[in-house]
Amino acid sequence: MLLSLGVIGFGRMAQALLTPLIENGDFKPDSVLAVVGQQKSVEVALEDFPKELKVVASSDPIAKEVWTAPVQLLAIKPQQLNEIKLPTINTHSSGKPLLISLLAGITLRRLQESFPKHSCVRAVPNTPVLAKAGLTGLAWGKEVTMEQKTLVRNIFTPISEVFELPEKQLDAFLALTSSGPAYVALMIEALADGAVAAGLPRQRANYLANRTLAGTALLLNEQKIHPSELREMVASPGGTTIAALRHLEMAGVRSALIEAVVVAAERSRELA
Ligand SMILES: NC(=O)c1ccc[n+]([C@@H]2O[C@H](COP(=O)([O-])OP(=O)(O)OC[C@H]3O[C@@H](n4cnc5c(N)ncnc54)[C@H](OP(=O)(O)O)[C@@H]3O)[C@@H](O)[C@H]2O)c1
Repeated sequence: MLLSLGVIGFGRMAQALLTPLIENGDFKPDSVLAVVGQQKSVEVALEDFPKELKVVASSDPIAKEVWTAPVQLLAIKPQQLNEIKLPTINTHSSGKPLLISLLAGITLRRLQESFPKHSCVRAVPNTPVLAKAGLTGLAWGKEVTMEQKTLVRNIFTPISEVFELPEKQLDAFLALTSSGPAYVALMIEALADGAVAAGLPRQRANYLANRTLAGTALLLNEQKIHPSELREMVASPGGTTIAALRHLEMAGVRSALIEAVVVAAERSRELA
């Protein structure tokens, strides 16, 4: 089997990445081999992909061929890393294959120890990649070639905006962008609860809370308005917004958000 891409762990993240790459013709389905943990996941994974794409369970003898691909996407859960069996013989005659790791908290050093015959890159995408509106942080290992860098950028660009960072900034990047959708979801939920408490029907409140956040983010971004400027534009003297903002400040919402990001970055460093 002549492969262009091997995928180790074909779950939500790997599938979100692969969908546009197959649709755009960047990878031919018959040159991709994806490995999942269990046999029952094979059929589920194939539901949304062309039948030429090969998906096998890790116990299948074909699975070891994934290591012959020049580019390998590692998209298992970090705690499953020890289950991965690398081939003992070097199947690559020219150059080191590229390993793109999505594993949160697994450092380049640890990757290089586990995969000494690869060049490695860490990629930190966030969940909005599922809607092609993600952010991805990349930290390059020492031996990644220019050609491999271009290929990695092309893999993540269709679903996200890409940022190349020193590895030591990835924890802060992750604390904001990867954990961020959870903070935002909590805010949307709480704002909708407030609207229900104030008299709106639940479904409408959920929708409006969602659209308020999305619309505000779009406005700030498109018109390059600073958040404090927008806050001042909305809060008229003696009005409803300033009354609400006063309440938010008294409740310490601003410092709670600051501390949430700091604590998530600290936790990410601890886990690494
Ligand atoms: N979700 C996020 O927001 C996010 C953000 C950034 C990075 N990440 C990282 O992305 C990675 C994947 O996350 P995910 O949400 O896509 O996880 P997921 O949906 O649980 O996918 C994990 C995949 O790994 C497979 N797998 C398990 N054991 C395996 C083995 N021994 N060999 C080969 N495949 C095996 C699973 O197959 P079975 O289901 O059959 O066991 C499944 O296909 C994680 O490391 C995570 O840290 C996620």
